[in-house]
Amino acid sequence: MKRIKIKQLLQNPTLGEQVTVMGWVRTFRSNRFIALNDGSTATNIQAVIDFERFDEAELKRITTGASMRITGTLVESLGKGQAVEIQVAGFEVIGDSHPDEYPLQPKKHSLEFLREIAHLRARTNTFGAIYRIRHQLIYAVHTFFHTKGFVNVHTPIITGSDAEGAGEMFRVTTLDIENPPKTEDGKVDNSKDFFGHETNLTVSGQLEGETAALALSDIYTFGPTFRAENSNTSRHLAEFWMIEPEMAFYDLQDNMDLAEEFVKYMVKYALQHCAEDLQLLDKRAADEDKTKPQNERSEMGLLERLQFVADNDFERVTYTEAIEILRNSKPNKKKKFKYLINQWGADLQSEHERFLVEKHFKKPVTLYNYPANIKAFYMRLNKDEKTVAAMDVLFPGIGEIIGGSQREERYEVLKSKIKAMGIDEKELWWYLDTRRFGSVPHSGFGLGFERLVQFITGMGNIRDVIPFPRTPGNAEF
Ligand code: 4AD
Ligand code: MG
Repeated sequence: MKRIKIKQLLQNPTLGEQVTVMGWVRTFRSNRFIALNDGSTATNIQAVIDFERFDEAELKRITTGASMRITGTLVESLGKGQAVEIQVAGFEVIGDSHPDEYPLQPKKHSLEFLREIAHLRARTNTFGAIYRIRHQLIYAVHTFFHTKGFVNVHTPIITGSDAEGAGEMFRVTTLDIENPPKTEDGKVDNSKDFFGHETNLTVSGQLEGETAALALSDIYTFGPTFRAENSNTSRHLAEFWMIEPEMAFYDLQDNMDLAEEFVKYMVKYALQHCAEDLQLLDKRAADEDKTKPQNERSEMGLLERLQFVADNDFERVTYTEAIEILRNSKPNKKKKFKYLINQWGADLQSEHERFLVEKHFKKPVTLYNYPANIKAFYMRLNKDEKTVAAMDVLFPGIGEIIGGSQREERYEVLKSKIKAMGIDEKELWWYLDTRRFGSVPHSGFGLGFERLVQFITGMGNIRDVIPFPRTPGNAEF
């Protein structure tokens, strides 16, 4: 008999029907009740076994973690907790588990423990939900941009340019690092390396993305990015996924509008398409909140928070306005900030961003027009010649979720900024070329996918929203 997924079975149950399901045993109680899950939904199907009808040795093989095929009749359930169940007519244990060694017991495990068994954690309710939501959000990214006529572009993962300056890079090499070829003056001879010069893993697809936007008008990238910063925080990964749209003929306002529309679309998409999994995570977050001291608890539940973001405009504030707010804020005056804000030009730390979002405005904030010298070379210089047309979208509990800008499209201005920042112009010859041949105003931004997934799932640590996190000192699995 053809197998049916549990999600489909529960959506459309026909009583009296013969069904076959396959999945993994979550629990087996009283030699009678199997809770089976196949990952299609958070809900298990209960299968009821009349143990007298089956071989004892076979029954013994039904243990937590074992995989099974179950065939039987779908009937109304008399027990609490489920509407229907399967009356087992036949079963087969496909893969035995080893009950004494199987690390996932039917009890609550800490997230820290589950990180150590990342190869098995997808079998828990929480991680099953996160994997499914992550998938829905990936689909939503493509749906959003596809519907708007954007072209998805694959930008290189191995890059020969390290000019973006977004962070420390991971070197890619096939040279024998114990014994590398040397030039006459004793330095490592990179011309002998695989590509004939030094290469790294990309920190962003933006610069290559821009070249595509200057031909196709609206493009987006959605790829892995790598940063070798030693940031051991709950918001940083060394390998993460980034969505980078780039639009010709967009100025900063258009860019901020698109960023806001995009994030709201993603949140609404999740609310619409992931209701069951979000309810599970909402309850999880509420339970976790109860373990915290009163003053650290969230003002809103997860679902409430998502609805709030979907329904309300983000606050738009210039960097200059933000500095005034921060300078006069209580934590600044009482010296509670680790980094005190004394003057215009200071770089904002996450404590400042979170104050603005969580305490002052109490909603997502788009900050724009930052000082030129704390932002990347490619951002467009404003008329005041002090600020650039940069923007960051800041989210409650997360901090920066999006960074972007209008790009410097003027050849001479771009060239002089490259020089002023000490970057080798020769490396960027192809990027500068785009400003010589039909340059146009254009803009773009980058959304950190895991930070978005973190916000939507309410998970406190970014390591829990990607299947196999890479962080300093950790590349297990
Ligand atoms: O602000 P960032 O560094 O911007 C860029 O890379 C630009 N090239 C984007 C563009 O304009 N096309 O990174 C963009 C976003 C951040 O706002 C953050 O959400 C995420 O990427 N991000 C990280 N996420 C997880 N771990 C890290 N180490 C991250 N670094 C940045
Ligand atoms: Mg940034």
